[in-house]
Amino acid sequence: MEIVIVPDAAAGGALIAAAIADLLTRKPDALLGVATGSTPLPIYQALAERVRDTGLDVARARICQLDEYVGLPKGHPESYRSVVLREVVEPLGLTESSFMGPDGSADDIAAACEAYDQALAQAGGVDLQLLGIGTDGHIGFNEPCSSLASRTRIKTLTERTRVDNARFFDSLDEVPHHVITQGIGTILDARHLVLLATGEGKADAVAATVEGPLSALVPASALQLHRHATVVVDEAAASGL
Ligand code: GLP
Repeated sequence: MEIVIVPDAAAGGALIAAAIADLLTRKPDALLGVATGSTPLPIYQALAERVRDTGLDVARARICQLDEYVGLPKGHPESYRSVVLREVVEPLGLTESSFMGPDGSADDIAAACEAYDQALAQAGGVDLQLLGIGTDGHIGFNEPCSSLASRTRIKTLTERTRVDNARFFDSLDEVPHHVITQGIGTILDARHLVLLATGEGKADAVAATVEGPLSALVPASALQLHRHATVVVDEAAASGL
């Protein structure tokens, strides 16, 4: 595992945006797995700026989603599909045709999960998967005790994650209880994993991920199993290392 300590979130965003730009230069139709939450926003801003400033042609890039809430109406502004379209796809000048994600409003959620897992493989696999980390060490929505070999499936959120994510909704009651998430095994299939963590609130989770034992209690520790995993942390998130 490669650990990169940067001064702040903006520096982390710029560094990772440069790595994505490099990937798209080498492989213009790369499949980029994106994460939601506040942490990756500086990456998406830096990438869009870079594309504008350098004229990098990203028209063939493909974007895929890591996870999704179950049960939000289609087009809900906080569905992860809407968030990724707004924060990543549109700023890059791409359209929905470049984008794939699990269907959180499907009648048959189990079938939607399996279909998404297969679609990722059929698309040739994820070239670079961006990850954030939950305060409890979750990646995607793989909460503690998720199987390290898990595939895309439905999960129930812990109360801690619902409270953490309530800031995106009008009230805690509106935060869905169920989600679809790429499994840890699915995430590990990506060719390069890049996790960004910023702020003191992530320090314990980062320390457990990087220096703790491999454990389903800390889903992000599964990055220790991957041959090409990069963890980018600001000074505050690195404070427990
Ligand atoms: C959610 C997402 C994760 C994300 C986490 C942390 O649970 N499913 O992918 O890493 O939030 O979000 P933030 O970056 O806002 O702390």
